Amino acid sequence: MNGIGLPFVSLLRILAFASLAALTAGCKPSVDPPAPAATLAGEPAERFLAVHWSRPLQAQGSPPAGYAPSEASLNPADCGACHRTQHDDWSSSQHSRAMGPGVLGQLMDMPADALDQHQDCLRCHAPLKEQAESLAAALAALPRKMEAQAQKTAVPPLHAHGLACASCHLRGYRVYGPPRRDGSAPQSAAGFPHGGWSASGAFEDSRFCAACHQFEQGEYALNGKLLENTYEEWKASRHAREGRACQSCHMPERRHLWRGIHDPQMTNSGITVTAGPVTIESGQVAAELRIGNTGTGHYFPTYVTPRVIVSTRQESADGKVLETTTQEYVIGRTVALDLSRELSDTRLAPDEERVVGYRKALHPRAAHLAFEIRVEPDAFYTEFYRSLLESDGTGKGRALIRRALQDSLASRFVAYSRRQPLQP
Ligand code: HEC
Ligand code: HEC
Ligand code: HEC
Ligand code: HEC
Ligand code: HEC
Repeated sequence: MNGIGLPFVSLLRILAFASLAALTAGCKPSVDPPAPAATLAGEPAERFLAVHWSRPLQAQGSPPAGYAPSEASLNPADCGACHRTQHDDWSSSQHSRAMGPGVLGQLMDMPADALDQHQDCLRCHAPLKEQAESLAAALAALPRKMEAQAQKTAVPPLHAHGLACASCHLRGYRVYGPPRRDGSAPQSAAGFPHGGWSASGAFEDSRFCAACHQFEQGEYALNGKLLENTYEEWKASRHAREGRACQSCHMPERRHLWRGIHDPQMTNSGITVTAGPVTIESGQVAAELRIGNTGTGHYFPTYVTPRVIVSTRQESADGKVLETTTQEYVIGRTVALDLSRELSDTRLAPDEERVVGYRKALHPRAAHLAFEIRVEPDAFYTEFYRSLLESDGTGKGRALIRRALQDSLASRFVAYSRRQPLQP
């Protein structure tokens, strides 16, 4: 890709603009149609969340007297000593990788004291105040070493944990969580680990997730549509009306997995694919593939970053792709690398079905018609990192960006494949 200019700088500027707008807009998630769940303290979810996700987050302060080191720690591994299931799940999730090489590689080129600029990314990727301090210290002291540390280290610095347990559950050293499943009241007595905890129905509410998965009105939009609109897409869907919150699909049984487009099984659970009959008439092969968004609670896919490629082609008896017989159709919202404009939007709204047709001359050696749906969860980033590396737009973060490029290629998978015999 050439003639892009400085996509890196533009992306940062755009995101910086977006977060500025969020600050002035007060960062409040919009109102849900059903009555808001009441917290134990009687606060509606909306009010709880406005405070809970008011960023930049405040420091936790000093741990209460008598806390064991594991209770006073913000390191997820220490929470995991008692909450093993949540920790194992979280470790396998994208949330635990939210400060991966692609993010860190870009942060490395920001000045150590540009704390507001760090917040443009950290407010979603690593929002604890203590993580902001950890990042600033690392940038100031050891840029080289930090790079090495990020690759492999026994005790990663706090910012490297990404979206950690404490980001969602801890404010001022007080633990907050959803109401117990059996509805009983939580312990707040001293003597219990971390002095008990406070329950809030806000944890079961989609607006809990909107804090990072939804832009505010007035934030960055292309072609009249916000760059991140997942919560609103969900709110307008059957899933919201039927009471299926983000958590019911992404945290089933309260598990901390947050599977999404990077997971083949999860992706397949959201769509229904049907191959229509294949016909051959006057030397022309015709067929169709129907793809329905039957189980994704928002657009399939919701972001501009993934790309889903529907590929149909003729193959020889030994499985070779016959050139000139391939037809491809992309499902996704494609945007220019500098985010200056939208190029196309072919995503599937909830419950929408798309019929992708195929029509080509029958190849003399064709034995099968092969359908394939390939998913590239990080397609935008692949191009973005390539362009950064080519235009020399990377500085200290170069090695990390190179690794991020590899990761973005490694995440591709085939979601669906089917071959139908061609009988001339
Ligand atoms: C020493 C063991 C221990 C450590 C360390 C610990 N917890 Fe807990 N935590 C508990 C126990 C036990 C309960 C259950 C209390 C109850 O059900 O009344 C609990 C309850 C909770 C709850 C509420 C569960 C619910 O049903 O909503 C959350 C959330 C939570 N802890 C998060 C954390 C986080 C985050 C950390 C790390 C910052 C952490 N805990 C560290 C033992 C621990
Ligand atoms: C503090 C901000 C924040 C909150 C709150 C948050 N997320 Fe995320 N989420 C992120 C970030 C950042 C990523 C991307 C991590 C990465 O890959 O770098 C992400 C990634 C995800 C993904 C993975 C998508 C994929 O590409 O496969 C899913 C699914 C998800 N979040 C769902 C949720 C749900 C459901 C909630 C509410 C319970 C939630 N998130 C709350 C910031 C947040
Ligand atoms: C409003 C919340 C939000 C802000 C602010 C934000 N991100 Fe993200 N970011 C996300 C979410 C959600 C994802 C996962 C979905 C996706 O891939 O688009 C993500 C994914 C990414 C990824 C790809 C996944 C990975 O870990 O490699 C990179 C790189 C990234 N963000 C960099 C940044 C940088 C750099 C900034 C600051 C300039 C930033 N983000 C600001 C929410 C945010
Ligand atoms: C992105 C925000 C987020 C992060 C990060 C996160 N949690 Fe949670 N956690 C939630 C939400 C939301 C719920 C409630 C889910 C529901 O009700 O469906 C929850 C529920 C819980 C519960 C109650 C489980 C139950 O079965 O009742 C515990 C305990 C807990 N989390 C601990 C942790 C620990 C430990 C970590 C880190 C390893 C962690 N959480 C990371 C958002 C988060
Ligand atoms: C009915 C189930 C369901 C509900 C409800 C749901 N999702 Fe998803 N979500 C999926 C499936 C399936 C995928 C994988 C396919 C895809 O990426 O579209 C997914 C993917 C994602 C992704 C990956 C990124 C992408 O581009 O698709 C994110 C982020 C996400 N969901 C966040 C949310 C948030 C936030 C909510 C609530 C506002 C939510 N989801 C509600 C099923 C659901």
